[in-house]
Amino acid sequence: MHVLIVEHPLVAHKLTLLRDERTDSPTFRNLVDELVTLLAYEATRGIAFEQRSIQTPVAPTCGVHLSLPLPIVVPILRAGLGMLSGMTRLLPTAEVGFLGLQRDEETLQAITYANRLPDDLSGRQCFVLDPMLATGGTLIASIDYLLDRGARDVTAICLLAAPEGLAAVEAAVGHRGNVTIVTSAVDERLNDRGYIVPGLGDAGDRLYGVV
Ligand code: URA
Repeated sequence: MHVLIVEHPLVAHKLTLLRDERTDSPTFRNLVDELVTLLAYEATRGIAFEQRSIQTPVAPTCGVHLSLPLPIVVPILRAGLGMLSGMTRLLPTAEVGFLGLQRDEETLQAITYANRLPDDLSGRQCFVLDPMLATGGTLIASIDYLLDRGARDVTAICLLAAPEGLAAVEAAVGHRGNVTIVTSAVDERLNDRGYIVPGLGDAGDRLYGVV
């Protein structure tokens, strides 16, 4: 498993605003959108591409285009939905699948309540959008799901990660090799309710309110 912490002043600036409890929902949503685009830029460095010959108005030249099959972007409902437009801004031709995974607040285990993805993901590069890598339960279930269906590799984009979550993902799926986590920061720890400390609170609630 590869972990990439994107160190950039704009990433740190936007993350600080997200952490601030005074940031309201509309501002929070915009910041997530912008931050994901910055993370997506780094997360897509390994995207599959091919050489292509083209003609400019001046001369023939060689460029690149994204390989087929196109990547698939998988926001984890509900909070991952807030990351979708920031991602598709960079990858407008990607297909989008959905996984609904929820944390059981008692057991902290991931429960699947919705899924809209092809059964066969052979050769696909998958980008999972999951804002908070806390215990790792949701992400492990998502990565297992995608690799079991033949995904070529899985890159998870997380706004924030906890050391416990990274260790859990490494232990559960790290041996499957082609897994990358891209995040803006690794925080101190989880608290006894499974929240990242200092974190930014409940990402879903801050995006969409407490519903
Ligand atoms: N999910 C969140 O939204 N926030 C946390 O801190 C942990 C899990």
